[in-house]
Amino acid sequence: MQEYKKGDCLTVTIEDLDTDGQGIGKAEGYTLFVKDALVGDTVKVKIMKAKKNYAFARLEEVITPSSYRVAPKCEHHRRCGGCQLQCLSYEAQLRFKEKKVRNNLVRIGGFKEADIDGIMQPIIGMEEPFHYRNKAQYPIGKDKHTGKPVAGFYAQRTHDIIPNTDCALGVKENKEILERILSWMEVCKIPPYDEVNGEGLVRHVLIRKGFVSGELMVCLVINGGDLPAADRLIESLKEVSGMKSISISINREKTNVIMGTTIRTLWGSDTIEDTLGGIKFRISPLSFYQVNPVQTEKLYAKAVEFAGLTGKESVWDLYCGIGTISLFMAKNAGKVYGVEIIPEAIEDAKGNAERNGFTNTEFFVGKAEEVLPQFYERASREEDMLHPDVIVVDPPRKGCDVQCLDTMIKMRPERIVYVSCDSATLARDLKILCEGGYELKKAVCVDMFGMTGHVETVVLMSKAK
Ligand SMILES: C[S@@+](CC[C@H](N)C(=O)[O-])C[C@H]1O[C@@H](n2cnc3c(N)ncnc32)[C@H](O)[C@@H]1O
Repeated sequence: MQEYKKGDCLTVTIEDLDTDGQGIGKAEGYTLFVKDALVGDTVKVKIMKAKKNYAFARLEEVITPSSYRVAPKCEHHRRCGGCQLQCLSYEAQLRFKEKKVRNNLVRIGGFKEADIDGIMQPIIGMEEPFHYRNKAQYPIGKDKHTGKPVAGFYAQRTHDIIPNTDCALGVKENKEILERILSWMEVCKIPPYDEVNGEGLVRHVLIRKGFVSGELMVCLVINGGDLPAADRLIESLKEVSGMKSISISINREKTNVIMGTTIRTLWGSDTIEDTLGGIKFRISPLSFYQVNPVQTEKLYAKAVEFAGLTGKESVWDLYCGIGTISLFMAKNAGKVYGVEIIPEAIEDAKGNAERNGFTNTEFFVGKAEEVLPQFYERASREEDMLHPDVIVVDPPRKGCDVQCLDTMIKMRPERIVYVSCDSATLARDLKILCEGGYELKKAVCVDMFGMTGHVETVVLMSKAK
C-alpha cells in the first residue's frame, strides 16, 4: 500500500460516510477521511494529517458531484461547526442516519442484520428540516476589522466567531433580536467579552421560543454583576412580537461553559411556556428542554406506544429532565416515578406535573444508578416491592451506568423503553440488557437534528420468554 504524507494532493472517489458525516475514500487501500465530501463525489483533496494506514484530508475541489449533493442554504456551512450535512439531500441524510444506527447495533450490540430488518421501523424524518430549533446560543465578540460587536457561531474547532445572525436552523426572530442587541451595544458602548484577556461584558445571547405559545425569551450572559443601559435594551427588545422574558446570566469564570448559575430577570416573566402533546411546560433559561419540539412530540409518542400502557402500569422514567416523558407516560399509566440528577429540573418537573393536574407522579433528585438500587434494596427488604411494569431511560450521550442497567435487570420490568441520542452507547447497553434476559423487539430512529449527523433512537426491549 502506498503511504502518503502531509501536503500530498490526490483525487479520490468517496465511497462512504463515517459516523460524523465525513466522506471516506480509498487511494490504493489507503483510507482518506474528507470533511464536506459526500458519497459519490469525486474530489481533489490535500492531506492535512497522515498516519500509517489513513489520513485526514481537506476538500480542495469537487470534480464530479455526487447525485446526493444539493445546494447549501447557508454560505457559512463549511466553516461553521453546526451543519455537517447541509450539502447532502435530506432524503440521503435520513438514509445515512438509519445506516449509522444499524451498523452500531450490529457491530457493538452484536445483533444480527436479519433480526434488525425484522424489528426496525422506517425512520421518522422532519417535514421542514430547517428552522426547527427553539433554542439558540450565540457567542458575542468583536469584528476583527471594524471593532464593532458581532454575534455568530464559532468556526469548527476554534473560538473564532463567524458573524451570522440568521442561522438556517434557528427561528426567524433570532435575527431581529440579535440586531437589536448589537445596535444597543454599539450605541451604548457596551463591550463584548474577550476570551483571551477575560475583559469586556457580553459573552453570549441565549434565545428560546415556545413554538406553540409563540413566547420568546432572551438571556444575556455577562461577565459582571450588572447590565449598564439595561432600560434602553429592554425598550428595544420589548418591541419584538412575542417577547415574554428578558434576563441576565452572570458568568465571571474563564471557562467554555456558556451559562452562569445566577439568573436575574430584568423584564417580564422568569420563564416562558410551551406545550407538548397538550401538556404545558414552563421553561427557564437553565432548563433542559428538547430543541426540536415538532419531532419531540413524535419521539415521545413512540416511547409511549412502545411502553404499551393501559392505564394501570407502574413506570420509572430515568434521566427524566423536567419530566416531559414522565408526563406523557402519566397520561396513560397508573403511577410514574421520575429520576433526575439536576435538582432544579426536578423542581420544574414537580411544578409541571402540578400545573397540569397530574396526581400520579413522584420525582426524585439523584443519580439514576444510585436512586434505583436504593429503592430496589429498600423495597425488597420491606417485601413491598412495587413491581415496575415499564422502565423508560433517556440518558445523556454516555449512556446508562452499569449499576443502573444491573438494577433494571434485577427489577424485571415487562418492558424497557430506551430513548437514545447516541447509538454507539445504546448498542453497548442493549447488549448488557440482552445478556440479562431481555429481547430487542422494536426500534425506530427519529430525526431531531436535520443537517447534522445526530439522530435519536427509541427501542423496545421485552422480558425474554
Ligand atoms: C437526554 S436528557 C433527557 C431529558 C428528558 N428525558 C427530556 O426528554 O427532556 C438526559 C438527562 O439526564 C440527566 N442526567 C445525566 N446524568 C444523570 C444520572 N447519572 N442520573 C440521572 N439523571 C442524569 C441530565 O441532567 C438530563 O436532564
